[in-house]
Amino acid sequence: MFRHAFMLLAIGMAGPATAQQAADVLAPEAATAPAEAEVWAGLGVQATEALRAKGAGQPVRGKDWMVSAANPLAVEAGARILEQGGSAIDAMVAVQSVLGLVEPQSSGLGGGAFLIWFDAATGGMTTLDARETAPMAARPVLFQDEAGKPLKFMDAVVGGRSVGTPGTPALLEAAHRRWGKANWASLFEDAIRLAEDGFAVSPRLAELVAAEGEALQRYPDTANYFFPDGKPVAAGNRLANPAYAETLRILQREGAAGFYSGPVAQDIVATVRKATGNPGMLAMSDLAAYRVIERPPVCVAYRAHDICGMGPPSSGGLTVGQILGMLEGFDLAQLGAENPESWRLIADASRLAFADRERFMADADFVPVPVKGLIDKAYLAERAKLLAGDDSLPEVSAGSPGWTHAGLWGRDNSLELPSTTHISIVDAEGNALSMTTTIENGFGARLFVRGFLLNNELTDFSFATRDESGAAVANALAPGKRPRSSMAPTIVLRDGKPVLVIGSPGGSRIIGYVARAIIAHLDWGLDVQRAVAAPHVLSRFGPVDIETGTGAGALAAPLAEMGFEINETELNSGLQAIAVTPQGLEGGADPRREGIAIGG
Ligand code: GLY
Repeated sequence: MFRHAFMLLAIGMAGPATAQQAADVLAPEAATAPAEAEVWAGLGVQATEALRAKGAGQPVRGKDWMVSAANPLAVEAGARILEQGGSAIDAMVAVQSVLGLVEPQSSGLGGGAFLIWFDAATGGMTTLDARETAPMAARPVLFQDEAGKPLKFMDAVVGGRSVGTPGTPALLEAAHRRWGKANWASLFEDAIRLAEDGFAVSPRLAELVAAEGEALQRYPDTANYFFPDGKPVAAGNRLANPAYAETLRILQREGAAGFYSGPVAQDIVATVRKATGNPGMLAMSDLAAYRVIERPPVCVAYRAHDICGMGPPSSGGLTVGQILGMLEGFDLAQLGAENPESWRLIADASRLAFADRERFMADADFVPVPVKGLIDKAYLAERAKLLAGDDSLPEVSAGSPGWTHAGLWGRDNSLELPSTTHISIVDAEGNALSMTTTIENGFGARLFVRGFLLNNELTDFSFATRDESGAAVANALAPGKRPRSSMAPTIVLRDGKPVLVIGSPGGSRIIGYVARAIIAHLDWGLDVQRAVAAPHVLSRFGPVDIETGTGAGALAAPLAEMGFEINETELNSGLQAIAVTPQGLEGGADPRREGIAIGG
């Protein structure tokens, strides 16, 4: 059966030496470039030590609490709250408010998020859905031209048309009301100080602004902020954002109501509706009607663990769960990380899961979704039988999960590009949260209002409402509906207690990043830093993506020989993870981005 198994490959997962090599190869943005060293010069001792640990490929350790996120200034803000006895939710509010300033391209007040919460006192777990919603005036053909043809993706993204009602401010308030301990207003202090005094522009932000071209300069308020004096902000420039500070002061005083009604809401609506060339239809009534929705997590058993994630409207929890559920019957630990056979199984399990995802997954409040059937043990075991051969599956199509609804959806064509950011936190009481937060595309709709960018989340809907066979698409837009997501904030339990808190940005590749990191940690025994740093190999139905410039390149030939189409490419994940071990907490931060973990 394992005729390819003799090809043992050094891809950086086998042990400390090779994992270190992997961390080195995979760290184009690690804290080694002079500009970066300068930018982070003002950081405190813990953050400086965390950058060093990440560069050395080592996890950060903590006894009581840990926070891992995509920017050191944001992580420092969260760590301050946790050090003072705040809850994981308190720290999240501080982290998110700083991320919205220093990493504005990825997430912020103008976007949405999914949060999964483990409550140490009750042992219970729940999720909060703060996904953006389609305005009530939006119609399924929003992203089609007059002839009914789908718009070009960026023509749809830039402007007001793609903007959904933001969910993040409502999430901050709802989560804090439920599980916060610290004074609400105090949680914005770091972000306000940095916005008023200015913060050092990070190399990643500068690089992304410079790479943007015309779209980020189309609207004057956006251009004035990111291109002061007509030039793109450079790494190390001090950038102040007094408008953002003022918006945060409104949130301090009035809570989320100060965002969803009154002058801030009026400015958002006016910006969307007046966006030159591509206006949208967001209304004050859409903002006033916005609600965070509590939903049960989606959990799948994997070996001795329960992998718990976000259900619809995200496809993250179901698709990660399907991949792992299908792999349950294969001994990946025995096969090993260097064996092409392991990657054949992972790649084809992913293709099968993505076939179901395209067909069945969407906002379950609007269309029936076979949530239970898709992760049913017997169904996944049946699908896993397809993996029994030696070579890649010649054809992959959606299965027939158990379903009370007699529906047949068409295949979806929504395009999901890399974007987004992730926050993982464990507090001193043992509460854990995993939150993936986004404005969708890098810089969202490119509309800047009151110091933050607006999302383009509506382009996560399928542009076509029917597939080529004429079948209706589950993820088609409808008024008030939430677009399907790939975000996969995940908490892994063992005996009912968290052992791994993890998630990543990356569009629809998020699913492969998270599944791969979980396998690396649970099956191959990599510590959390090595698990996030290890090279990526994944599939989203089409070719197998292999991370370029890493040891994983050695897998290209054997996987091609098995029949896979190979795509060697940059895979810019941003995994932020915390392992809860018998020796304490270990934090990991993806070396492909600027994040760190701090523990105490
Ligand atoms: N817009 C990224 C996602 O929701 O998957």
